[in-house]
Amino acid sequence: MSDSSKLAADYFRRGAEALAKQDLTAAIEAIRKSVKLDPTNLLFLQTLRGCEKRQRELDSTMPKTFRIAVIAGDGIGPEVIREAIRVADAAAPKSDARCEWTHFPWGTDYYFQNGRMAPADYLDTLAGFDAILLGAVGHPSVQDHVTLNGLLLPIRRRFDQCVCLRPAYLYPGVDSPLRNKPGGSIDMLVFRENTEGEYANIGGFLYRGMPEESAIQTSVFTRKGCERIIRAAFEKAATRPRQRVASITKSNAQGYGMVLWDECFARVAAEFPNIATESLLIDRAVMEFVRRPESFDVVVASNLFGDILTDLSAIIVGSMGLAASGNIDPTRRHPSMFEPVHGSAPDITGKGIANPLAAILSVAMMFEHLGLDAAASIHQAVKDLLASTGPKTPDLGGNSTTEQVGNGVASHIAN
Ligand SMILES: NC(=O)c1ccc[n+]([C@@H]2O[C@H](COP(=O)([O-])OP(=O)(O)OC[C@H]3O[C@@H](n4cnc5c(N)ncnc54)[C@H](O)[C@@H]3O)[C@@H](O)[C@H]2O)c1
Repeated sequence: MSDSSKLAADYFRRGAEALAKQDLTAAIEAIRKSVKLDPTNLLFLQTLRGCEKRQRELDSTMPKTFRIAVIAGDGIGPEVIREAIRVADAAAPKSDARCEWTHFPWGTDYYFQNGRMAPADYLDTLAGFDAILLGAVGHPSVQDHVTLNGLLLPIRRRFDQCVCLRPAYLYPGVDSPLRNKPGGSIDMLVFRENTEGEYANIGGFLYRGMPEESAIQTSVFTRKGCERIIRAAFEKAATRPRQRVASITKSNAQGYGMVLWDECFARVAAEFPNIATESLLIDRAVMEFVRRPESFDVVVASNLFGDILTDLSAIIVGSMGLAASGNIDPTRRHPSMFEPVHGSAPDITGKGIANPLAAILSVAMMFEHLGLDAAASIHQAVKDLLASTGPKTPDLGGNSTTEQVGNGVASHIAN
C-alpha cells in the first residue's frame, strides 16, 4: 500500500469514528481528505456522498442562524433594544430562523472609562456579523460630535452604508399633530445619503481660543455618491404604486455640491421616464411636508437635509418613537445597520416610558434585509396594536411602559 493510500485509509478510519460519535461535520471533513488522497476508492466516495446528503437533510430542518451585533448604546438605547430583541426572538421562528445576539458595551459609559467610544479595532470586530442593531448614542455631558464621530459615523462609512432608509407612515389609530389626517394618508420613504455630503467631517480650526478663532467645515458631494443614492430611490419608487420621487436641494445658495446633486438627479431621472419627479429647495420642502405630506412618496436628500427632514416626517406621523431606519450597504459586501431614528432622549431615560416601536420596526427592516418574511408579522402586530386599545407609551397618549409595549407586540406575534 502506498503512503498516500495508507494516509487515506487513516483519514477514513477517523471519519468512521466521528460518525460513530454522531459528529457528522468532523466525519465529512476527515472522509473528504481520504477521497482527495484516494479518489478511486468507491467505499470512500459513497460514504462521503451519504454523509453530505445527511448533512443537507439536517440543514434543511435546522433554523437558519443570523449573527447580529448589538450596540444598545446610551440613554434609552438599552431600554428600547431590549424590547426589539424580545420581538425579534418571537418573530424569527416564523421564518425558521433564529438570531444569535452579541452585545457590545460601547458608547458613552465606555468613553468615560477608556477615553474612546469603542475599542480601536471595533470596525474589524463588526465586519464579521450579518447585521448590526443599534440603540442610540449621545450623552448630555459629552459633546455630540465626539460620540457621533467616535462610533456611529465610522460604521456608516467603513461599511459603505450609503443608503439611509427612513419610512414615515401614519398608522391608523395614531394622531398626527397635523389636522384631519386619516390613518394611512401619509406614507413616504425618505432616502438619505449616508456616507458623504455635509457629514464628511472635513475641516479644521484656526487660531483656536484666540479672538480670531475660525472654523472651516467642508461638504463633499461626489457624482458616484449622489447617483447611487438617487438611483436607489428611483429603483424603490418603481416598485411602489404612486411612482413619485422628490429631490431635496439648495442649489440656489450651495452653488457647487448641490448643483452636482441636481445634475445627478436629472441624469438618473432620465433612466426612469415613468416616474414623476419634483425638485424642492429644502426650505420649501419643510413647508410642503407640513402643508401636503400626503403628496410625498419617495424622497431623496443629502445627508444633512435627510437627517433634518426625517425628524419632521417622524413627528407628523405621530412620534419620534415610531421612526425606524436602516443604514444599508446595497452591495451586501458589509453588514448593514438598523437603528431607531431617535437619539438617547436623556429627558426620559430610566423612566421606562420610551416608545420601543421605532426599535421594533427597525428589527422588521433588518429582517426584510436578511430576507426573512417574519418582518411582515412584526409590521402586522405593530399595526394591530396601534389600531386597538392595546398598550401605548405616553408619547402616543397612552400610559403603558416600554416593556408592556414590547410584550404586547411579542405576544401578538406568538398568538
Ligand atoms: N442615531 C443616534 O444615535 C442619534 C440620533 C439623534 C440624536 N442623538 C443624540 O441623542 C441625544 C439627544 O438628542 P435629542 O434630544 O436632540 O433627540 P432625541 O431623539 O433623543 O429626543 C428628542 C425628543 O423626542 C423624544 N423621544 C425620542 N425618542 C423617543 C421614544 N422612543 N419614545 C418617546 N419619546 C422619544 C425625547 O424624549 C425628546 O423629547 C444627543 O446627544 C444627540 O446627539 C443620537
